[in-house]
Amino acid sequence: MTVEPSQIADEGSVAFAQSETLEAVHELELTYLGPQSVLSGLKASFKDLDVAERKVLGSQMNAARQKLEAAAQGRREELESAARAAQLATEGVDLSESLGKAKLGHSHVITQTWERLEDVFCSMGFTVADGPEVETDWFNFEALNLPPAHPARSLWDTLYLDSSQLEGLGQEQLLLRTHTSPVQIRSMLRAVRDNSGPPIYVVCPGRVYRRDTADATHLPVFHQIEGLVIDRGITMGDLAGTIESFVKAYFGENMTSRLRPSYFPFTEPSAEFDISAADGSWLEVGGCGMVHPNVLKAGGLDPEEWSGFAFGFGIDRLAKIRYGVEDLREFVTNDVRFLSQF
Ligand code: PHE
Repeated sequence: MTVEPSQIADEGSVAFAQSETLEAVHELELTYLGPQSVLSGLKASFKDLDVAERKVLGSQMNAARQKLEAAAQGRREELESAARAAQLATEGVDLSESLGKAKLGHSHVITQTWERLEDVFCSMGFTVADGPEVETDWFNFEALNLPPAHPARSLWDTLYLDSSQLEGLGQEQLLLRTHTSPVQIRSMLRAVRDNSGPPIYVVCPGRVYRRDTADATHLPVFHQIEGLVIDRGITMGDLAGTIESFVKAYFGENMTSRLRPSYFPFTEPSAEFDISAADGSWLEVGGCGMVHPNVLKAGGLDPEEWSGFAFGFGIDRLAKIRYGVEDLREFVTNDVRFLSQF
């Protein structure tokens, strides 16, 4: 009884699938497909067959040969890719950099707070403005409704600059800005000059200076962020709502704010705003109010047409509250044990 080509193909396919090496595959190719193979040997029986029978056997042989070739090729590819993977695993070079124990630096906690505040206010539709740290008396005080000799000037212990030696500076009294409020005036004048507003919705974070001795709650150089909104029909309700949204966005949904009547020459009415603390007490954060008509006029705007509100608060103080820092001086003594906590 002669062997069926399909039987050879089945048997050979199993053998190929079980082969473990490329050499074994090659050996099996000789066994099943070579000139000495059983399949090739079947050709010898052609002479005993008629044309129709030859045709049948021939096509069975072809099918078997194709199946065996495919099995050989498939197994060879499997073994080759396994060999490549094994080689990559053993010879691969790890190019990833190792930092070992080295510590990465990061932004100072005040910078982080500053940037976070910009993000929060930008998400509320404000843009960021800035102004110089060396200001004129006019921008820092006079334009903010604090004429020379105004008693409220004593609220800001000012560091004046002696500009008499600097030629070509004119008669302007220079000083280190005591708050970011001069940027209110600069923003209004800039908007009028560039024809880009009002409406004006800006915040201005920046460094400010006061003639103060450093202690747990004061620094002679610190940071404030000013907010200014000028539009038509702005009310105290808009101010309260903006402060409340800010407090929730920055501190979290369970925090709330309140306004307390206060006095600033550049706002009328004026208020101080506090935020709620976990123990039910209130922490004072900053000042705010409706922009005084004289300030609008100094900014080149008609108080009959435009109204607005402004607020300003200490960035350092906010960071102190948020992170529970005891002493503001920690922010400037540059002790890495303190700074690396943030
Ligand atoms: N500039 C004020 C301060 O430094 C804060 C403030 C800003 C108050 C804007 C009202 C409006 O104390």
